[in-house]
Amino acid sequence: MRIYMMWPNSGYVLVKALILGIVSSNLNSVCAQTISKPSSCGDSTGCFHNGCTSDDCEFLLKWQDGGGDDLDLTLTCIGTGDKYCAIGLSSDSKMASASVIECVSTSSTPAVYVSYNTGYSNSRLSQNQLGLTLTSSSHTNGIFTCTFKRKKTATLASASVADSTKYFDMNSDWTLLYAYGSSSGGSIQQHSSNPCASLETADFQSSDDVGCSATDRPLVKLHGILMSLVWMLFAHVGVFMASINKQTWPDSTLWFGLKPWFVPIMAAFRPKPDHPRRIIFRIAHTLVGYLAIILATVNLYTGASLSAANAPASTRIVLIVFNVWIVVVPIAAFLYLAFSRKPKQNKSNEVELEPYDSGQETKEPLDNVRVLITAVYVVGLLALSIAFWVLFAGGK
Ligand code: HEM
Repeated sequence: MRIYMMWPNSGYVLVKALILGIVSSNLNSVCAQTISKPSSCGDSTGCFHNGCTSDDCEFLLKWQDGGGDDLDLTLTCIGTGDKYCAIGLSSDSKMASASVIECVSTSSTPAVYVSYNTGYSNSRLSQNQLGLTLTSSSHTNGIFTCTFKRKKTATLASASVADSTKYFDMNSDWTLLYAYGSSSGGSIQQHSSNPCASLETADFQSSDDVGCSATDRPLVKLHGILMSLVWMLFAHVGVFMASINKQTWPDSTLWFGLKPWFVPIMAAFRPKPDHPRRIIFRIAHTLVGYLAIILATVNLYTGASLSAANAPASTRIVLIVFNVWIVVVPIAAFLYLAFSRKPKQNKSNEVELEPYDSGQETKEPLDNVRVLITAVYVVGLLALSIAFWVLFAGGK
């Protein structure tokens, strides 16, 4: 008995298995390293953080004013290798014209520096550790810390005339900025995460507990929503129709006679069904399609994890459910199709299953189960896409 395997559908199952691999590797990244928030925040010490409540801080600046010339500060951040985190003192929530304190971690222990933002660039003061005394620093288990004293004013720090306007007075209240990124040779690079600005001004002479919110990037949000519209909804409805339901509508056309599985560039090269090179087109088309789906799946995770997107971790949970959905339902449909498809009796009494792309696109009857599976699949995709958009757009 000769049985033709329906190879494009087998490929479909293989792609689904690959996508499950991506899901499992992402389950781990949902749980990341965090910093504990001390109970003294807002009580005996001032704190600035990402709005954390207990042990879920992504960074933490702690301060205490002992009443002398110096403020005692500790800046704790997450990261391994050459990284930095920086606090900006600003009169608005913009990067420009902010006086900056950096905690820079290299292969040796972290060090503190003072710099200033001019527009969208940053440069150290000529006295690059002006007014700062590092009391201790550490870099262990993916967390680095700088504990230091800072002279409250430029005068107390004996700043040069050029540096004095870039060294802000810590007796005044400031909007605090937080930036994080890589360092190279001890110098800071452009932040890799979206900087945040404090929700209120911080008073270093009191024990404030100040959270921060990410700076707005509406175009990044719009980009994410449009890309997920294509890659969570349209692409999978298209692939499902082409793989599972194609035989039901072999001759159907949409607008102006275009086939539903029409792909503009590849369609130009598409030979007629009985052409000997049709198989080459078929293989190329299938590989390109599956590669696009796999890359798009990776991209959905990396995009939602980008700090610039500032999407909540729940978007990744939606993506995991989405990936399970795009694996389980098509496999169920594929199994249904394989077992419900009638074997064809040929002349030599051999039983053959209809090859998937035999060239003769025999129309199969539209049965209720297939309609139901298709409807459930599309409604599920739509629901998951909407959940993703709402969560993704919600995180500022
Ligand atoms: C080498 C250093 C830096 C470079 C090249 C740089 C560059 C930029 C650029 C190009 C933007 C606009 C696009 C974007 O949002 O990504 C930006 C935004 C921002 N940066 Fe920086 N930055 C640097 C360091 C810093 C530091 C040290 C801080 C504060 C501690 C900071 C705070 C901000 C903030 C709050 C924003 C968003 C608000 C705004 O657009 O003004 N940056 N930066």
